[in-house]
Amino acid sequence: MNLSHLRGILTYVPEFRDKTFVIALDGAVIAHENFSHVVLDLAVLRSLNIRVVVVHGIGWQLTQAAKQSHFTPSNIDGTGVTDRPTLELAIQVANHVTHQILEALTSCDLRACYANAITAYPYGILRGVDQEFTGKVEKVDVSFLRDLLSHQIIPVLPPLGFDGEGKTFRVNSDGVALAVAEALGATKIIFLCSYAGIERSGRLIRQLPVTEAESWLKKDRPTLEPHLRSKLEHAVRACRRGVSRVHIVDGRVNEALLTEVFSREGTGTMIYADEYESIRPANKKDVRVILDLIRESMEVEELAYRSREDVANRITDYYVFELDRTVVGCVALHSYPETGQGEIACLHVARGHENKGLGRKLVSFAENVARSRGLRQVFALSTQAYTFFQQKMGFREETPQILPESRRKRYEESGRKSKILVKDLTG
Ligand SMILES: CC(C)(COP(=O)(O)OP(=O)(O)OC[C@H]1O[C@@H](n2cnc3c(N)ncnc32)[C@H](O)[C@@H]1OP(=O)(O)O)[C@@H](O)C(=O)NCCC(=O)NCCS
Repeated sequence: MNLSHLRGILTYVPEFRDKTFVIALDGAVIAHENFSHVVLDLAVLRSLNIRVVVVHGIGWQLTQAAKQSHFTPSNIDGTGVTDRPTLELAIQVANHVTHQILEALTSCDLRACYANAITAYPYGILRGVDQEFTGKVEKVDVSFLRDLLSHQIIPVLPPLGFDGEGKTFRVNSDGVALAVAEALGATKIIFLCSYAGIERSGRLIRQLPVTEAESWLKKDRPTLEPHLRSKLEHAVRACRRGVSRVHIVDGRVNEALLTEVFSREGTGTMIYADEYESIRPANKKDVRVILDLIRESMEVEELAYRSREDVANRITDYYVFELDRTVVGCVALHSYPETGQGEIACLHVARGHENKGLGRKLVSFAENVARSRGLRQVFALSTQAYTFFQQKMGFREETPQILPESRRKRYEESGRKSKILVKDLTG
């Protein structure tokens, strides 16, 4: 990367400012001589106000430590049975690796700390076999991580978790990265590994839509190497749960991380969710689902009251956001062809799914529908989310005069005194 790349990087700065990237480091990358360069790359991300969370593995170090002590661990990556001696060694190794990362970050003047943010429960008995100290991530302490990030501190998470009684469990680091990214509503997970990315017939795949990755996992599962299978499975789940980009990058290559983030071509494999594929037109069966979703918001007057008939009669105007076959958001676009305007209405995101970008996606989607219908302007009426429209979606406040006449009449009759937010559509 040279000075001329700086201009290229600058185009990404507004897009990534204040966004969260989860950087998942394989143990082998931390042991590699390029690791000091990886840390410099993290310093660049921080200098651009990107919030960085580091999750690390210990597979390579655990293998080395076991070899040195002539010990055979019951598993290396936190996915099989973890017996007591393997857990003890994993704790020692994990502490050492976390310390190594903290040392390296500190040497670049980056503030960082070990974050005990994972609650894990035992995996239990699988096909009759007790997985002993292998755990699964149950909960992520989101407010703790958010506090650290808001104080410009990089949280570093090892592949370990505690249960409610303080017992330690070994967890898989890919699983930690996924859980943390989902909980924080991260923009990206970047897996830094000791291979180039995902290859097919000897060719590196640069970009892989999540639907394609899913069909590989279905068709070719037995032929995929376990480490690639794990990365692909976690990438697919991440994309399905709102983390729209997952990158698999060779952490042994100088500047691979920055090139992946700040260039169109990248260096590794990017698995991506089509931003809008989770949004579909609503159908008759969704009427009840939509009403259940918005009931509370109607009660507290965030949304205007709508009866079952109101929704049913205009159901073709509605769109729903579906995650894992559950509707978690909705929006409607009512057209006023006589004035070339569209109303974005009934925008709602279910509690528990907020702050993951769903609201923004629903509004952008409705804007695109309006464009495709040849409308030149959209408006929204809001009592409690007007700053969302202004600050996040680029709407401006206007007077009722801007509304189509029929709509203005209803606006005045309702007495809700909603703010009127407007956006001109271009392109
Ligand atoms: C408004 C709403 C749709 C946002 O959905 P969301 O999925 O949480 O939004 P996103 O994740 O895309 O964006 C979150 C950002 O918007 C901000 N935001 C969310 N709700 C907001 C509100 N009511 N007012 C101002 N800002 C808001 C968040 O603080 C966050 O800011 P950040 O990115 O700087 O951290 C959701 O909160 C909701 O359903 N509200 C109740 C119904 C409502 O008021 N609908 C609008 C009627 S027209």
